[in-house]
Amino acid sequence: MRAPGPILISQEQLAVRNQELGAQISADYDRTTPVLISVLRGALYFLADLTREISIPIHLDLLAISRYGEVSDTTGIVKITKDLDINITGRDVLVVEDIIDTGLTLSYLLNYLERRRPKSLYVCTLLDNRARRLVDLPIRYTGFQIPDKFVVGYGLDWHEEYRHLPYIAVLEDGPGQLR
Ligand code: IMP
Ligand code: MG
Repeated sequence: MRAPGPILISQEQLAVRNQELGAQISADYDRTTPVLISVLRGALYFLADLTREISIPIHLDLLAISRYGEVSDTTGIVKITKDLDINITGRDVLVVEDIIDTGLTLSYLLNYLERRRPKSLYVCTLLDNRARRLVDLPIRYTGFQIPDKFVVGYGLDWHEEYRHLPYIAVLEDGPGQLR
């Protein structure tokens, strides 16, 4: 499929970084079986590739959310439409995210997870758009810092399009009012 703009991170770069992150996570969580949690649907490709580079036992779970439009954009408050199936109380939890932008959504979700009293709670994000960050988050692993551009591919969408691109590209015309 044609890219909607310049390629920012190639398939090869993604593969190399996934290997590095997988090795780091395997070393850091050597003495435990962490629960890796992703939020549908953007993080799916990253989760699938990253976990195949992890050499220790892990458990996987997924959350699904839906947004309340403007309210979610300014507060991060979202509705959980699919909750966890695994009990995370006392477990080492690593949230695997596609991109952190303002950080509001993730901040809300981390509070939600914290209430279940995990033993530890950290974040692994593939992309970090730090220019737009509004809140501080416990990010332990970052794949790539990116410039303040709207990106698509490798799970990331623009109105559900471009998710299955095998690389990350800049959306040339920007998201407009639709971010
Ligand atoms: P925030 O960190 O609460 O602002 O929201 C982050 C969410 O917005 C991500 O999980 C993505 O679903 C979406 N998002 C933010 N920036 C981008 C982008 O550049 N491309 C595609 N989706 C994005
Ligand atoms: Mg997301």
